[in-house]
Amino acid sequence: MAEMNAVGRFFVNAFSARRSRRRYAWIRAQLTLPPGSTILEVGCGNADLAARMTDGFAPVRCVAVDLEPRQIEAARQNLARRYPAGAPAALELRAADMLGLPFPPAQFDAVLAFEALHHAGPDHHDFERIAGALAEIDRVLRPGGVLVYEDFVRTDRLQSWLAGHGYAIGPVLRRRRHESAIARKPRDPAPAP
Ligand SMILES: C[S@@+](CC[C@H](N)C(=O)[O-])C[C@H]1O[C@@H](n2cnc3c(N)ncnc32)[C@H](O)[C@@H]1O
Repeated sequence: MAEMNAVGRFFVNAFSARRSRRRYAWIRAQLTLPPGSTILEVGCGNADLAARMTDGFAPVRCVAVDLEPRQIEAARQNLARRYPAGAPAALELRAADMLGLPFPPAQFDAVLAFEALHHAGPDHHDFERIAGALAEIDRVLRPGGVLVYEDFVRTDRLQSWLAGHGYAIGPVLRRRRHESAIARKPRDPAPAP
């Protein structure tokens, strides 16, 4: 993975509230999740968005994962500030690699990846690693589940990987270099070629 330097970590943690407020508002306006749904966020940073998703969508389980121990600690502190009486039982924070997610197949109704996918490889433009992360996300998503992502690296390849695996993509929001999208996994497995 491409490890973040101190400046990267500062931006991830210091300006998260504004960013995740905007992201959450967009997701809320575009997405309906069934009651009792399950959510995973990969590369969660300080878990601000995962907390908003937990409060707003009332899932039975929302797991926020990040690979970097320092980021997990920052998330723990952020959640302690947000929930002085204790975080909701549905919200879990775990150290995990998006290239090898520690979950059985078809566990989640929604997976979020915000500015996270391009961190899968040491070179942000290495699409092979990004495709590896997409394959892991695809494995843990239920049929009919959604990947909600925002990125600014190789978004053309991201979309073609998803379309090639039968995902229905849209809505898509473009904001400067960033692209946010909701991609729905097909309900039926794609026929063998
Ligand atoms: C640019 S930050 C984005 C954080 C958060 N999603 C946000 O937008 O505020 C990328 C995050 O991905 C994490 N990360 C990098 N490689 C990862 C991997 N292989 N698996 C899981 N998380 C990873 C980093 O530690 C970092 O917290």
